[in-house]
Amino acid sequence: MPTRREIRLRIRPERGLPAPEHFALVQTALPVPAPGEVLVRNRWFAVSAAVRTVIGGGLKGAPFPSVEPGDPLFGAAVGEVVSAPHGSGLRPGDLVSHRHGWRGYAAVPAAGLTPLGDSLPDPVAHLSQGWTAYAALTRGAEVRAGDTVLVTGGAGAVGTMTRQIARLLGAGRVIGSTGSPAKAERLVTELGYDAAVVRGAPAPFPAQLAEAAPEGVDVLLDTVGGEQLSAAVAAARPGARAVLVGALSGRLDPDDVARVRVVRELLALGLTIEDVRACVDRLPLLDMDAIRSRRVPEGVCVRASPVVSRRLAALDAEIARLTRRRDELAARAAPPPHPEIPATPTR
Ligand SMILES: NC(=O)c1ccc[n+]([C@@H]2O[C@H](COP(=O)([O-])OP(=O)(O)OC[C@H]3O[C@@H](n4cnc5c(N)ncnc54)[C@H](OP(=O)(O)O)[C@@H]3O)[C@@H](O)[C@H]2O)c1
Repeated sequence: MPTRREIRLRIRPERGLPAPEHFALVQTALPVPAPGEVLVRNRWFAVSAAVRTVIGGGLKGAPFPSVEPGDPLFGAAVGEVVSAPHGSGLRPGDLVSHRHGWRGYAAVPAAGLTPLGDSLPDPVAHLSQGWTAYAALTRGAEVRAGDTVLVTGGAGAVGTMTRQIARLLGAGRVIGSTGSPAKAERLVTELGYDAAVVRGAPAPFPAQLAEAAPEGVDVLLDTVGGEQLSAAVAAARPGARAVLVGALSGRLDPDDVARVRVVRELLALGLTIEDVRACVDRLPLLDMDAIRSRRVPEGVCVRASPVVSRRLAALDAEIARLTRRRDELAARAAPPPHPEIPATPTR
């Protein structure tokens, strides 16, 4: 019987990096594609930072489910079509990308596949994080000519692409952070960063950053959070723009999770935060009748997609719930009325 190999989660890692004992390599029957499904032989799959979150129990609000012990892992993959339903437009040998990595073969609904063609010289490049960096720098922080850009986690999948794209968008100086002097050297000599700052180095991170960006930072793309985010905020120039992409510093250390939880939850919500002054600048665009009738055109003040707008509504509800809870707690903590002062009569 034809078989395939797949990697499953055996037990959840408690802290730190996962190790081989957390996974099981399992031989299973080759999947038989259902009507409308394509059988794909996987050639490459991505081992992304998000895997640590999904095998650790997931994150409320994140756009991906958690993996339970016994389940196969999942993630972006590139493979070759083995067989495809008639009318799908796919032929054996075509390269496609999909989300069923971590296994040798996958049966995937035709609608869940992206045909790749030969637009890139190396098909594995379709697994890069270029789209994240591009979206962050063009739709989030909007790099302008001459900007000084700081990329935390500058050696990672997102970071390395950020360096290339920021420079193509006209950034004047791009600084990356990394974990060792040897990697810092490679960031500058191989990847073309103008300077690199090292976490855990003898010199404090803020002092290194001040030296690398003496004029301050215009754009921050943060994948790390924690100390590096604080230092970047302190080095921000007036009008600086920041995009929060990840919170790596809290991912491996449960003791640190609380410190970066707010950032991780904001990330999971896809929240857009904007300076109120920028909203005020756009006020003349508002239709005052629409405001009075509470039909504020979307995208005027809160620059958010409809999905984010719905999540903001959920956030409003959560804030209202927390406010009620705070009032309840405050009422409980209030001292009892003075015996000589009659309590305010209630109606
Ligand atoms: N929101 C989105 O759409 C989106 C999309 C993709 C990725 N992300 C998030 O962005 C982050 C980066 O993703 P990636 O794919 O670039 O990850 P990656 O390729 O795994 O790179 C991670 C980098 O982080 C650094 N790092 C590791 N542990 C760290 C720690 N404790 N403190 C500070 N830095 C540490 C490592 O570099 P050094 O050893 O050189 O420091 C490594 O190069 C992740 O949190 C990921 O979930 C978000």
